[in-house]
Amino acid sequence: MGEAKMIARGTAALALMVLAGCEEGAPTLWSKIAAQPQVAPQVTRGREVYEAYCTSCHGSDGAGDGPLAADLPVAPPDLRHLSAANGGQFPSDRVYEQVYGYPGRFNTSVMPEFGPLLEGPSVMVMAEDGATVRTPRALVDLVAWLEHVQQD
Ligand code: HEC
Repeated sequence: MGEAKMIARGTAALALMVLAGCEEGAPTLWSKIAAQPQVAPQVTRGREVYEAYCTSCHGSDGAGDGPLAADLPVAPPDLRHLSAANGGQFPSDRVYEQVYGYPGRFNTSVMPEFGPLLEGPSVMVMAEDGATVRTPRALVDLVAWLEHVQQD
């Protein structure tokens, strides 16, 4: 995939999601980060986070065919069709919740929670209902990469 196309898709993924510069506490406006050069590295970094934590089960391309997949009691889903299975809309809240984990879910889910592993610098992210949620930067990048690899 060409770099320009990658940037365009990454931009769509993150438009209106990240409150730019909020780590400094200064800006008060939500800003679209369209055309900002850091979008491409975010997706690239997201890919690195994915490779570090996710490929063992979900496979290197997200197809659900990682080396551990066959031994799990629940098959890891193909992560490339989350949008297609959700009426064409990337289910970002669900993805954030699944990856970060939330209290109690660990006991009922095969997939581990990664919230603690993804701590570090954080940014504000707008959830689907408009609420803002402080979110580890690595998780924002990871979800951007996942949205980037969605297929029809
Ligand atoms: C130990 C294996 C394993 C690892 C490692 C793993 N997953 Fe999963 N994942 C699963 C399984 C199994 C499911 C199905 C739901 C369940 O049982 O938890 C799942 C479900 C999901 C879903 C929900 C898909 C949907 O339809 O809503 C997402 C998104 C996801 N994983 C992303 C990730 C990401 C991103 C990582 C790395 C940070 C990761 N997973 C690491 C096993 C794993």
